[in-house]
Amino acid sequence: MTPLQLAARIVSRSSVETPADMVLRQTLFRRRGLSPSDATWVSRAVFSYFRWERWLASDRPLESRIEDGLRLAARFAAEPKAFSDDELVRNSVPDWATAHLPTTAALARALQQEPTLWIRSRPEFTEEVSQRLRDLHPGPFADSFRYAGREDLFLDRGFQAGQFEIQDIASQAVGRICAPRAGEVWWDACAGEGGKTLHLSALMGGKSLIWASDRAAWRLDRLRQRAGRAKCFNYRAVHWDGSEHPPTKTRFDGILLDAPCSGLGTWGRNPHSRWTTTVQDVEELAAIQRQLIMNVADSLKPGGRLIYAVCTLSHAETTGVADWFTQERSDFDTLAVVNPFQPDEPPVTQLHLWPQDTAGNGMFVAAWKKL
Ligand SMILES: C[S@@+](CC[C@H](N)C(=O)[O-])C[C@H]1O[C@@H](n2cnc3c(N)ncnc32)[C@H](O)[C@@H]1O
Repeated sequence: MTPLQLAARIVSRSSVETPADMVLRQTLFRRRGLSPSDATWVSRAVFSYFRWERWLASDRPLESRIEDGLRLAARFAAEPKAFSDDELVRNSVPDWATAHLPTTAALARALQQEPTLWIRSRPEFTEEVSQRLRDLHPGPFADSFRYAGREDLFLDRGFQAGQFEIQDIASQAVGRICAPRAGEVWWDACAGEGGKTLHLSALMGGKSLIWASDRAAWRLDRLRQRAGRAKCFNYRAVHWDGSEHPPTKTRFDGILLDAPCSGLGTWGRNPHSRWTTTVQDVEELAAIQRQLIMNVADSLKPGGRLIYAVCTLSHAETTGVADWFTQERSDFDTLAVVNPFQPDEPPVTQLHLWPQDTAGNGMFVAAWKKL
């Protein structure tokens, strides 16, 4: 099967139930014999197809449309002004989205770009990582890098030895906003596979303790594997289903609620989800987020910090949840945070990180202090 035929098979098997990134991962895993450059080509072809889907003529055969998607991506990279703001705003997101997030031309242009691959090195390996990996460029933070090469970083020996993590730059910013201090005890309440747990641990210099919970046992298993690779030992992985019963009676210095969300901020990296996410998802997830933030809030010590983060940009899940919580909980004060990308700007209590400003995922962060 040629790479083009493989890409067509992946596109045709992608659906709401089996998202393109999952089908792609499974297919490439089954075809481990595929050369790394062919595997990269297939991923680019699949993602370009969904990124440019609204420009593609539906009467063309699927393989031709995939090639058209790649041509559009190349043209946009070479001549972005050949595409008008209007057509980009109209075609880069589903129609319902304009009522739920500010679909500006700048955002649409950012969503049509090929995403940047960001890595975060463990502080003690920054020098070594930056010297060994080729095509690496310094990022906005001391331990962050933009990777412009085509190697499969998962196969890199430095990666396998836990010297660095692949982590979006907006996610890295969330860890920096938490700014946990050595000696503090934190709860990473929706820890998932541990991207932010590992970062919090690194920021604390591996000292003190992080409770890392999730409702998905398989994600916590992945977290344990990643933590082992990153030599991160100051965590406790526990099941928590999001209910009002926290996994421990501990009162925390800090809680990070990196809540499940509609993921609109990841539409650049994961374009298939533009066409599978619905308004109902946004509404249902906003209700879940309100429940989760209420359920973690009482586990803070007086003076403790609560950080709410979502990789989405819908009003309901961002300012909607944050304003609601501020109103409901008079025992919390809003806490102004510094935008890690603009440390000289005045701190704000609600922070939107836009893909067009960061070259990362869209992210929203709000913070409070327990009185
Ligand atoms: C945005 S992801 C977390 C990503 C993770 N913090 C990271 O940086 O890699 C949200 C997580 O919330 C978990 N989740 C979803 N619903 C939940 C619930 N009701 N209670 C607890 N966790 C939940 C999901 O399993 C998922 O891992």
